[in-house]
Amino acid sequence: LNLENKPKQFFAYKGIIVHSISRHELEIINPGVLIVDEDGTIVETGKDVDFHSYPNVIIHDFKQKIICPGFIDLHLHLPQYEFVGLGSEQLLSWLKKYTFPAEKRYEDEAHARAAIEVFFNELLHYGTTTAAVYPTIHRKSTDLAFGYAAHSGIRLIMGKVNMDQNAPDFLLQDIEQNVSETLDLIDKWHGFNDGQLQYAVTPRFAITCSSDLLTELSAIAKDKNTYIQSHLAENRDELKSVKTIHKNHDSYTHIYADHGLLSSKTLMAHCIYLSDEEIDLIKETNTTPVHCPTSNRFLQSGIFPLREFESKGINFGIGTDVAGGYEISLLHEMKEVIEMGKMYNILNYTNPQPTITMEEVMYYGTLGGAIAIGQEDRLGNFQKGKEADFIVLDDDTINPYHEFDNYQTVSDRLYRLIYRSSKESIQSVFIKGKRIR
Ligand code: GUN
Ligand code: ZN
Repeated sequence: LNLENKPKQFFAYKGIIVHSISRHELEIINPGVLIVDEDGTIVETGKDVDFHSYPNVIIHDFKQKIICPGFIDLHLHLPQYEFVGLGSEQLLSWLKKYTFPAEKRYEDEAHARAAIEVFFNELLHYGTTTAAVYPTIHRKSTDLAFGYAAHSGIRLIMGKVNMDQNAPDFLLQDIEQNVSETLDLIDKWHGFNDGQLQYAVTPRFAITCSSDLLTELSAIAKDKNTYIQSHLAENRDELKSVKTIHKNHDSYTHIYADHGLLSSKTLMAHCIYLSDEEIDLIKETNTTPVHCPTSNRFLQSGIFPLREFESKGINFGIGTDVAGGYEISLLHEMKEVIEMGKMYNILNYTNPQPTITMEEVMYYGTLGGAIAIGQEDRLGNFQKGKEADFIVLDDDTINPYHEFDNYQTVSDRLYRLIYRSSKESIQSVFIKGKRIR
């Protein structure tokens, strides 16, 4: 058997192709075809494909279904999915009452295993193919989460959570343990699965990390070229507390900047309460803010000034922030991006900003997210040469009127998919050309 001469296998996926070209431009190819090779690379996207170029092609016809890039969720917490919707308090008391006790349970390997499996299966069910995740402080549960992610095929940015102060004792580790466990996990998982698994050094936020811990973690991230993820300027009480804990810095953002934690590989969740100077610092360091609108309302944190970041040319991603956010669905989060933009306008009625569009939220959830993590050469849309991460959307499942369907244009159908954000409407999920479900 001569494997060298085996003709290349191609796959053609027919349907209505929808993908972002830029922030405001969504290309719709109807009907369209996506051609993927056996390595999971996109070789062609178009309307009129010459199938003679692909003698060995397997065709899947999704007919009138919409095919779009897999979603990119840039901020959520694995151990928190088990208590979504609970709590009416704001951030700091919510962490104490719900989050920390839930995270303690991940000491228990059996609990961690069971919960990890549900978490990644749910994410994939909702069409998320790339996620930036916080597990717990535990080396073992983090290791199990990486292992299950590798098995599931998802793309993941993750790292064990680091805390050495201002949290319950059962979630604190000294600097040495934080450092050695972080290094162990980086060695084992960073770049694993052809780069699908990426490590993110994860100081939880300034309140729970001493200056010495931040210094050590920053050095590791630089040395090992990992991502960095944390929380910044989310909630007013948090801002007050941060001021009393880290005294020698010009601002909350400066705490991270002064420790060398802001970079083009840094994801900072929330970024609601930043001065102009802090926003400039975000811009200069190429740091990525992550907008988590559902969480920002659920925890009564505030409203992300999206148009301000946009006007300064800052790329940002979106995150469900489970369980600050109560849905693990990126379609749901896209809707909340639009709706929180409207809330901003209600409160700032003398200076309203343009209403956020479906085209924009599709961009933030796909190509924008890929740009935010510096992976736009591999992910985010269906450009030739990129890796084939895509989902098939079935909106028949969310049309209760069997006799008629008012949503005739592709744009109307996408608005309906976003506003109803049902799990049933995600029919299939492919990552790097491989069908995951
Ligand atoms: N800030 C520090 N930890 C957390 C967390 O778990 N959730 C949210 N929303 N904010 C945080
Ligand atoms: Zn968070």
